[in-house]
Amino acid sequence: MPKHTIVIMPGDGIGRVVMQEAIRVLNALGFDASYIEADIGWDLWCKEGNALPERTIKLLEQHKVGLFGAITSKPKEEAEAELSPDLKGKGYVYASPIVGMRQHFDLDICIRPCHTYKGNPLNFIRRGTQGQIEEPYIDVVIFRQNTEGLYCGVEWSHPDGIVYEALRTHKNFVKNFGDVPREDLAVSTRIFTRKATERILRAAFEHAAAYGYKTVTLCEKPNVSRETSGMMYNMAKAMQKEYPGIELQNTNIDAQMMWLTKNPEDYGVIVAGNMFGDIVSDGFAGLIGGLGFACSANIGEKAAVFEPTHGSAPKYASYEVPIVNPIAMIESACLMLDYLNEKALSEKIRSAIAAVILEGKVRTYDMMKMKGEPDVLKKGAASTREMGDAIIKEGTRKE
Ligand code: NAI
Ligand code: MG
Repeated sequence: MPKHTIVIMPGDGIGRVVMQEAIRVLNALGFDASYIEADIGWDLWCKEGNALPERTIKLLEQHKVGLFGAITSKPKEEAEAELSPDLKGKGYVYASPIVGMRQHFDLDICIRPCHTYKGNPLNFIRRGTQGQIEEPYIDVVIFRQNTEGLYCGVEWSHPDGIVYEALRTHKNFVKNFGDVPREDLAVSTRIFTRKATERILRAAFEHAAAYGYKTVTLCEKPNVSRETSGMMYNMAKAMQKEYPGIELQNTNIDAQMMWLTKNPEDYGVIVAGNMFGDIVSDGFAGLIGGLGFACSANIGEKAAVFEPTHGSAPKYASYEVPIVNPIAMIESACLMLDYLNEKALSEKIRSAIAAVILEGKVRTYDMMKMKGEPDVLKKGAASTREMGDAIIKEGTRKE
């Protein structure tokens, strides 16, 4: 019997391409697991009216660990148009399966590490005071609250009577929107709970303590969102007292987006609510090579799902020889190995990735700053599989 069972959800487009590569690397380097493939994504929506079928939820409930590729999502009207004719008009409403999965399994802690790979031509560089080129070493881990805030789905267009009356109990609503007709209002709520806020802050401080980071930076907006960000800030200040060796920094999301291109090396662990965590993690990912390198973990008390942060990039899915970068997916698999206490193996794979990038002989098109076209292979870019092969070769090399 293999030691682990992993539910793999390749999904759509390049999700399938990069998943295949990650499994090849895991197998070649000796991960002792069996894989069960589960359905998710656009085809399932079109055929069954549900992009996250109950059978996939059951598999995750049973096995608790998932590896997810990427899915295609489309706006409401387009989704309705592509639904199978026999399902049309029967009340099916498209919902993102990854957001649904995070909420169903309460995967409230999202971890997004961003670190510089030496030799990556996509690394962020800046000019120093003497005009010299500086390439700061970035090692940041973003902790994003994953289930609440602006993604909680509590929202209304044309709010109904009770909701509207409730809004009118707030003096700022009456002052700023009191004269706006109800049908001209759209409202999305930003809800934070103490429990989830405590959990994401705790996870951030614990990670900083375990891995020797000197700072935890809360990246919110407590001066404006006084209730939600304000609560998180007060809780972070109180929690910091339990971690005397770790400094709590407090930055606003807008300022942080500026600071991260000025002095990204000054940050260690960053913690934020759902939307701001999503924003700041993409910002840091851009400094270390972009979507081809951005991995993530979604962790709850009963289950965990690991995924690259990129989407299904449909244009690239049909290429006869796939060209996209599999590193974000393989790094996501490494986060899964950490979660499963297979740290020796995750470190081996990470070292192999680092060695391939440092050597610089095998580079996918994004690393060569090429436009993604089928002819990139002729111009010297490596295919997805060649990148996978190079990582496998490095990871299985005898010392
Ligand atoms: P995307 O991430 O799929 O692609 C944007 C661009 O980034 C691509 O055109 C490509 O140039 C580059 N790119 C992405 N992954 C890459 C990789 N591994 N290697 C090299 N280059 C890479 O985002 P886009 O185009 O906005 O969305 C496409 C579809 O994916 C949409 O339906 C969207 O809703 C969905 N999506 C799904 C996500 C998920 O499954 N978690 C996340 C983001 C978008
Ligand atoms: Mg995002």
